[in-house]
Amino acid sequence: MRDRYILAVESSCDETSVAILKNENELLANVIASQVESHKRFGGVVPEVASRHHVEVVTTCFEDALLEAGITADDLDAVAVTYGPGLVGALLVGMAAAKAFAWAHQLPLIPVNHMAGHLMAARQVKELQYPLMALLVSGGHTELVYVSEPGDYKIIGETRDDAVGEAYDKVGRVMGLTYPAGREIDELAHKGKDVHNFPRAMIKEDNLEFSFSGLKSAFINLHHNAAQKGEELGKEDLSASFQAAVLDILMAKTQKALAKYPVEMLVVAGGVAANQGLRERLADEITDAEVVIPPLRLCGDNAGMIALAAAIEYDKGNFAGLDLNAKPSLAFDEMAD
Ligand code: KG4
Ligand code: ZN
Repeated sequence: MRDRYILAVESSCDETSVAILKNENELLANVIASQVESHKRFGGVVPEVASRHHVEVVTTCFEDALLEAGITADDLDAVAVTYGPGLVGALLVGMAAAKAFAWAHQLPLIPVNHMAGHLMAARQVKELQYPLMALLVSGGHTELVYVSEPGDYKIIGETRDDAVGEAYDKVGRVMGLTYPAGREIDELAHKGKDVHNFPRAMIKEDNLEFSFSGLKSAFINLHHNAAQKGEELGKEDLSASFQAAVLDILMAKTQKALAKYPVEMLVVAGGVAANQGLRERLADEITDAEVVIPPLRLCGDNAGMIALAAAIEYDKGNFAGLDLNAKPSLAFDEMAD
């Protein structure tokens, strides 16, 4: 059988990325241009700055990806692109580039949900067994998703307020860490102890919802009150206490979801899936399902994961017209129109 090549584009936040996937699973290129340095001094992603950076580098990313994969546009079978959720201006840049490329080379366009991309990055580890459960944890999302078959996603629980990565970044800012702070807090947490006993919101409630804003406020208040008294609380213990509360919440709700929807496989994905503490607890505590976590290089935003999700949509014949629009708050169960 002839080989199939999909080129994928991702620009929903602060990474411009173009990847090329051969057949189902072979990532030939995954070029990622990160803008994180430009956003650090603002302590978060500035949408307007993000869009401009995407415009500056997107064409080069296309060229580099094709070069790295050792193929030409003529070899391609489809172009995939993230159309939501994300920052509207950022999404539009990648979409305009993907559409122009698809039109110029007469290739079909595959619309991909960014969160489906995070989840399907797990396909690089092993073949997924359906039905499966996914815990998706990133800077913008915290969701439990039930996947009955490839491409069929149902959100069974999500955060009522902040996303878990967002909470990491906010408390990191309070401690004076650079953005994004998740990784550094994870490292500091391993050197400290859970001495502050922060609240674990809704942990006992019999639902699959998350809440992190109370934890974030408790952290900020403690830090603020100590500062007013001239006390310095150690970053290690603060991080360990914060991370212990986050992980207790994530683990409790994931266990509840697995009890309610028994499955054989649990996929944990998104930027926060890079967290070592989370990986340790999953390995220790999830006994009824096999835990699959994408490799670290595919946990953060990248087009490789978009290509892996696009392969499923290709098989299902889910293509979009060139009038495809960006959907900044795209949900899992929405289809492209
Ligand atoms: O998925 P992602 O790259 O972008 C979004 O789609 O949001 O996730 C970025 C988030 C940031 O909030 C970052 O602080 C967090 O993932 N993150 C981590 C770790 N590495 C990245 N959070 C906790 N522990 C980590 N090791
Ligand atoms: Zn993401």
